[in-house]
Amino acid sequence: MQTPEHSIQAAKNNPDAPPRRKKILAIQYSQTGQLAAVMDALLAPLAQAARDGRVDMHREILRHAPGHEYPYPWPLWRFMDTFPETVAGDPPPLAPLSTELRNAADFDLVIIGYPVWFLSPPPALTAFLRGGEARGLLRNRPVVTVTACRNMWLMAQEKVKELLRETDARHCDHVALTDRGNAFATFITTPRWLLTGRKNGFWGLPPAGVPAENIAACSRFGFALLAALGRDAERHASETAPLLSGLRACAVDSRLIASERIGIRSFRVWSKILRASGRPGAPLRRAALFLYTVFLLAMIVTIVPASMFIKTLLRPLLRAKLARLKHCYEQPSGSGAERLSLFSSSQPNP
Ligand SMILES: Cc1cc2nc3c(=O)[nH]c(=O)nc-3n(C[C@H](O)[C@H](O)[C@H](O)COP(=O)(O)O)c2cc1C
Repeated sequence: MQTPEHSIQAAKNNPDAPPRRKKILAIQYSQTGQLAAVMDALLAPLAQAARDGRVDMHREILRHAPGHEYPYPWPLWRFMDTFPETVAGDPPPLAPLSTELRNAADFDLVIIGYPVWFLSPPPALTAFLRGGEARGLLRNRPVVTVTACRNMWLMAQEKVKELLRETDARHCDHVALTDRGNAFATFITTPRWLLTGRKNGFWGLPPAGVPAENIAACSRFGFALLAALGRDAERHASETAPLLSGLRACAVDSRLIASERIGIRSFRVWSKILRASGRPGAPLRRAALFLYTVFLLAMIVTIVPASMFIKTLLRPLLRAKLARLKHCYEQPSGSGAERLSLFSSSQPNP
């Protein structure tokens, strides 16, 4: 297999040879197309560089094997019944990766985009990262992760980081985009979007999804990655040497940290109970899932507002701890904005 180290050695042995073009792999899963639009915007500067012959880029779209796809819009029951296996990390099979990808391995930079499902990576990404081919593609490669979701991505990203560690990838950056509305508004607009396919605003609530201007502004990350490749920074990129710092790549809302940490624990318990009650669609599992749905709704109308009230009271006492956690979850790329002016979409100036 040709590694970047081999190429560098070959260039040293033959200084007149043209420098090897950097190879970028972009992998994504997107159901409604939102994450796909984010990746299009982020990758646009790299795609232009590929058209100009300055880099090579391969884009891989993850798809489930025929007969295992998820529906969109979602029937409510199917949506709920997808929860146990998604949280347990037990995904349905993927369609085979493209032949082009299976024949290539020596990528200089890998960018992985995914939405969040039930505070977890979506099944397609879990299937890819747990599959036999991921290690060959990602081992010792710098990996940038990108997510676009309603507002809760911390626990999913922790899981993705764990899966990346198992492939020996070098995770170096994370970009996170969230919906425009507040938690109350998106609690209504996101399920409405997923269950009916309607994204528009109504009754004074904003449209569901990440705003178009925030998606378009993702080109700054593509410009920054292109500049990093130009100075070979990807060779040393790591959790402590990110490529996208100072670009407001991921800002954590500290009000949601406790909800996510409590939520994933509860999800894991219920995922085990529901899986123990049968396979998707089995009669006992349907009964258990019905109970869980009632439990969840009861929690949402009682415990969630009560815990929000308690959290507001405790916030002054927890301020230091929350600030520490916010900083931790924002790594590697962070929420600083000091390099924003260098990489605006209209005027890249690396
Ligand atoms: C089954 C399912 C579960 C979801 N769970 C979450 C979640 O836990 N947190 C969150 O912020 N968004 C959640 N979302 C919203 C997605 O992250 C994402 O915003 C939406 O599905 C559109 O993504 P896509 O079109 O790129 O696939 C969920 C969506 C689906 C379909």
